[in-house]
Amino acid sequence: MIAGMLNIFETINNAKDTMNMQKILAFDIYGTLIDTHGIVSQLESLIGDIAREFSASWRNKQLEYSFRRGLMGYYQDFSICTRDALLYCCEQYRLNLSEEGIRELLDLYKMLPAFADVKPALSALNEKQIACHAFSNGSRSAVQQLLECAGLERLIASVVSVDDVQTFKPDPRVYQHFLKKTGACREGTWLVSSNPFDIIGAIHAGWQTAWVYRSQSNIFDPWGMEPTVAVPDLRELAMTIMGNNGRKPT
Ligand code: 2OP
Repeated sequence: MIAGMLNIFETINNAKDTMNMQKILAFDIYGTLIDTHGIVSQLESLIGDIAREFSASWRNKQLEYSFRRGLMGYYQDFSICTRDALLYCCEQYRLNLSEEGIRELLDLYKMLPAFADVKPALSALNEKQIACHAFSNGSRSAVQQLLECAGLERLIASVVSVDDVQTFKPDPRVYQHFLKKTGACREGTWLVSSNPFDIIGAIHAGWQTAWVYRSQSNIFDPWGMEPTVAVPDLRELAMTIMGNNGRKPT
């Protein structure tokens, strides 16, 4: 009984140590800082009501292609996964786009908007001198372009891309690469992501994790692994990280 209680106190103290440790934040880009569905209104003018469904299929296919390329050891830049997924979805939805139309959509994808809560949250974290890095499947130049378009580049300490290791999340080597590039220790490194597959990849790599779920209807994969904290948006993430009031997901 006493041993059990000591274990509980130990667990609480370990959790407090983790929250108080110098933190390095690794922000996922697509779907977390940048809204991958920010292109829906342009899609609506092309395909009407099914634009949102098309956008979701495009995103899912893009990720599927990255997973498959990772498994096959057949890496190509993430923009290739994005382009091939778009071509697939055009076939699926019988959307007969010209080459120029395809190029226009892919150009828009390079300038996707940030979610509204990103700038205030990153500014608040920067003010507290908490290091905020970008960590993405996207190439460094693609991520830099997105950050510049969204006016976020000065709030991000560095961009770490999987391109350096020529494979994709959630390959453990990409999480290892982030630590090597930034000199961070894994216990003090937090992945901030809206993508459950990315969160689970980071937990597996021994990191702390913050799942930004954005909508109550989003489901976390039931793998028996939980994020360190779950927050609805980046404002709450910033408060949680700065205030050390980490809350276990419910
Ligand atoms: C990113 O790495 C997974 O798409 C996500 O930015």
